[in-house]
Amino acid sequence: MCGIFGYIGARDPLEICLSGLEQLEYRGYDSTGIAGVGNGEIKFCKKAGKLSNLLQAMNLRNLESAIGHTRWATHGPVNDQNAHPHLDAANSMAIIHNGIIENHHVLRMDLIASGVLFTSDTDTEVIVQLVAKFYAGDLAAALQKALSLVQGIYAIALIHKNHPGQIIAAAKECPLAIGVDPTTKESFISSDPNTFLSSNLDICFLHDGEIAIIQRGHVHVFNTKHEIIRKKTERLELQYTVPSKDGFAHFLLKEIYEQPNTVYKAILGRFQEQTGNVEFESLGFTDEQLSSYKKVCILACGGSAHAGSIGAAYLEELAHIPSQCEIASEARYRSLLLTPDTLVIAISQSGETADTIAALRIAKAAGCKILAICNVKHSTITREADAVIYLKAGAEISVCSTKALTSQIAVLALFALHMARLRGLPVEVAQTFFNNLKQIPDQINQVLLAAPKLQALAEKYAHYEDFFFIGRLYMYTTSLEGALKLKEISYVNANGCPAGELKHGPIALINANFPVVAFCANEQTKDKILSNLAEVKARGAPVLAFAPVGMDGVQAIADDIFWLPPTTDMLAPFTSTVAAQLLAYYIALKRHCNIDQPRNLAKSVTVE
Ligand code: F6R
Repeated sequence: MCGIFGYIGARDPLEICLSGLEQLEYRGYDSTGIAGVGNGEIKFCKKAGKLSNLLQAMNLRNLESAIGHTRWATHGPVNDQNAHPHLDAANSMAIIHNGIIENHHVLRMDLIASGVLFTSDTDTEVIVQLVAKFYAGDLAAALQKALSLVQGIYAIALIHKNHPGQIIAAAKECPLAIGVDPTTKESFISSDPNTFLSSNLDICFLHDGEIAIIQRGHVHVFNTKHEIIRKKTERLELQYTVPSKDGFAHFLLKEIYEQPNTVYKAILGRFQEQTGNVEFESLGFTDEQLSSYKKVCILACGGSAHAGSIGAAYLEELAHIPSQCEIASEARYRSLLLTPDTLVIAISQSGETADTIAALRIAKAAGCKILAICNVKHSTITREADAVIYLKAGAEISVCSTKALTSQIAVLALFALHMARLRGLPVEVAQTFFNNLKQIPDQINQVLLAAPKLQALAEKYAHYEDFFFIGRLYMYTTSLEGALKLKEISYVNANGCPAGELKHGPIALINANFPVVAFCANEQTKDKILSNLAEVKARGAPVLAFAPVGMDGVQAIADDIFWLPPTTDMLAPFTSTVAAQLLAYYIALKRHCNIDQPRNLAKSVTVE
């Protein structure tokens, strides 16, 4: 889950690479590094920690080309030695790598036996040492030979002091985009084409086994037989804007506050009020195709899987089509028994989550068509899916996902409505559902206006180290999401649990130091959740309830209540989730955590 970037052209390669790395930091921020060729030698600078550490240590000048890396540690601790780039023993070449080399140990042992001295614990160093072993003047050929011994996944960039005008790149199952401007004679490589700082580029993506020789303003790509191949290029609409907190203390808070607008944008223009029909722009599936599906299988990870579970419930409740949400990291190793009569939906904010991509490929191989629900354009999932519905939520910078999730739920609500209409849901029922959905942005706004109350509650609860988040039905998934937000940004132990399951074991943990945060918004299970609250209260747990205005009975049990605008059971996840996000934010703030870049995490999980 690292980010790699490279530049060769008339502008200062160092400056361009640093700007690229700034945008790629979402892929990992354990360390950063840059290498380039200058005055006939490899120059490099690398540092553990964030890009700001590298900037302080930066001592490079006059580079003819540069490659840069931002790391999420897989092999070896976070320190300067393990930061990329890695060099061969003679310091004649430097490599950066995103991915994992699975047989690195065996290869390392062989190289050590032949006298090679390693300077890092990384799997990546094995590749550069192998290339050095095979190098006899043709760098691409040496890399190809080295990669023929390697098992694993990678996107790689390599430079050599004897080839100052070249960057060699290779990829297998990891994204690597190459952008070329023949007019200005500039070339870029990046793990993410959205980070290219030029909109005038012919862009191609390296496919498995391909190797590219990138020079100023042109690129040659070779297949595994070392034959030159003609790659199809595309002009991408890239509109880069420098991320800004717009006056908010953190990107996370800004993104929480964007939600009335982002949810609105996710539904805008996608529902015909007169006809009760949903219309996604260029959906790519005909009504006949969608009507023919017997099942839906949703694949996603983390927060996106929580949205997926809500989506599966929508599909069942509205469209009466059997639907399941599978956690992609599990699904890829299970026998899902997928057949072409199942519509597969891959949900991902980034479009780069390795497990979701792997599960999607398995579904494709089983003959299924894939609908992607994604935020990031040009990402791997959007390129591999048969059709895409975009979230239109704008760039999400905070590692902890907020606005993407509520947009995912909004899109899933509309998609379920679409499937339902195709299966005969009456117009009036669709209109009523949409009218309730339309009110969600305003209801989220009401939650945001009550933020001071949530901050006060956070201050009261911030000293606890353990929490249960409980709910039933839609509120159970919401409790999973609320717990994930809290543990992710404030490092406290928060567990989402179906309220009815507490008494099957988890309740043993309850005591006066173990608060229970209860999501009570489902009318259908109102009495049940109140009984569960009474049970934990009787055992001494402090109880914080998120309940819709007007809910009876909760005041008699809960220690604290945050009142939510009432809505339907199906749509309650929106406001309850936003309230949980703010609670987590203020607890993290009180605990002085790194809110936008929590420890050990990366925005985009590109390794399994
Ligand atoms: C939670 C969070 C993660 C992501 C997960 C999937 O706040 O951000 O759990 O939801 O890594 O990422 P995407 O949606 O990019 O596939």
